[in-house]
Amino acid sequence: MLFTDEVTLAYREADRVVLAVDRVSVEVKQGEFIGIMGPSGSGKSSLLYLMSGLKLPTGGEVRYRNRVIHLLSERERMRLRRREFGFVFQQPYLLPYLTALENVLVAVPGDREAYGRALELFEQLGLLHLANRYPHKLSGGERQRVCVVRAMVHQPQIIFADEPTASLDHINGHAVIRLLADYRQKGAVVVVTHDPEMIADADRVYSLRDGRLVQPVRV
Ligand SMILES: Nc1ncnc2c1ncn2[C@@H]1O[C@H](COP(=O)(O)OP(=O)(O)OP(=O)(O)O)[C@@H](O)[C@H]1O
Ligand SMILES: [Mg+2]
Repeated sequence: MLFTDEVTLAYREADRVVLAVDRVSVEVKQGEFIGIMGPSGSGKSSLLYLMSGLKLPTGGEVRYRNRVIHLLSERERMRLRRREFGFVFQQPYLLPYLTALENVLVAVPGDREAYGRALELFEQLGLLHLANRYPHKLSGGERQRVCVVRAMVHQPQIIFADEPTASLDHINGHAVIRLLADYRQKGAVVVVTHDPEMIADADRVYSLRDGRLVQPVRV
């Protein structure tokens, strides 16, 4: 469904080059729940940005269903991201002037069924009573869960989630992971985490260190 072929992301700092991702080849198949692990600064977020087309590689390529992501136009890439991908950022960001529910629904203009799906997801993550609250009146963990709902409500082909349980307690963390793991039935899920428990159920786990894939891959 999606794979990277020796994908590389170099950040140019004033006098040096940081290889955030260094010739990494990974694969995501339909119906899979994939984990990405590694210490802080090892390139996990950068790899997720490359896989989802948020950043373009400085070397190698990312292919999604026979399309080479960096060869698409900016517009095509944006459409692909909007329609087929869902992204949970490491720092949960919501528009401050919209309620939790409105933040979720702006992602799906004109989709009549999305409202029902959004409420169902809010319910599953214990957020139903907060649907009409503004972000500044939500805790960090509540905001993070709203971001998870936003990434799922349009039923994307692949969900990319960057430490989606970082600010959650055990129970809520598990609820999020269960929801993401179950999403396999509809698409594929790629989760970055430092918590092995969160990806105990993964189909495959890739480990990164200094931008490089570390072998062996846990299958
Ligand atoms: N915009 C940037 N400019 C320069 N260097 C960057 C930039 N973003 C990230 N880096 C560097 O790239 C490397 C990988 O960063 P990345 O954010 O992908 O790591 P990470 O594994 O997600 O870390 P964490 O677990 O702390 O979120 C780090 O050395 C980081 O300092
Ligand atoms: Mg990160």
